[in-house]
Amino acid sequence: MTYNIAIDGPAGAGKSTIARRVAKELSFIYVDTGAMYRTIALSLLRCGIDAKDEARVSEALPGIQVSIAYRDGEQQMLLNGENVSGLIRTEEVGNMASKAAALPCVREKLLDLQKELARTHDVVMDGRDIGTNILPDAQLKIYLTASADTRAERRFRELEAKGISCSLEEIREDIIMRDEQDMHREIAPLMQAEDAVFLDSSDMSVDEVTEKIKSLCRWEKK
Ligand code: DC
Repeated sequence: MTYNIAIDGPAGAGKSTIARRVAKELSFIYVDTGAMYRTIALSLLRCGIDAKDEARVSEALPGIQVSIAYRDGEQQMLLNGENVSGLIRTEEVGNMASKAAALPCVREKLLDLQKELARTHDVVMDGRDIGTNILPDAQLKIYLTASADTRAERRFRELEAKGISCSLEEIREDIIMRDEQDMHREIAPLMQAEDAVFLDSSDMSVDEVTEKIKSLCRWEKK
């Protein structure tokens, strides 16, 4: 039986940084499900398909192959075999991913891939509906959040470090709009699972959050 850690929370809460760290320290696989939605979003953007046009999205999906590979322990996203990991981190793709993720046909497409990874590996999987929907039996569930200001600032610094120019105020607005979309959609909205541990990382360092999660983890090395 595999050990699964589910980390859910809003955009920019630091989920990927924390999940990656925890996975590395426990020798688990880190699964970034947001990257999967971003990969579909990139494909839709390239084809000029509006995420609101459910019929066209549904028609396009069979031609969109999403798979993952690991290079030096880092998850790589493959879109019809093309490594698009470097192309999916923009705000444009993130916003499109949030819109596309509200469609049942898009969520359905990624369900098996996510469940299968957790069934066959010890994983730290992050996203919006992991504890509530994808891995309801995960041994540890975390709901990680931070204030909107903190999240906007973190994302701003992250993008700046990558040389992507952006405005803090625009990012803040994007984050609030994305929260609204992700929390209020009909299917698999972002919410804290009943049995998830709530962590507000606004005033916590990456080390502190990582240690806290590890201390909650009942997994023992075989
Ligand atoms: O975590 P992220 O910002 O990379 O995710 C991009 C979008 O994908 C997010 O706004 C909502 C969607 N998403 C989702 O609906 N369910 C998930 N498990 C992961 C992401």
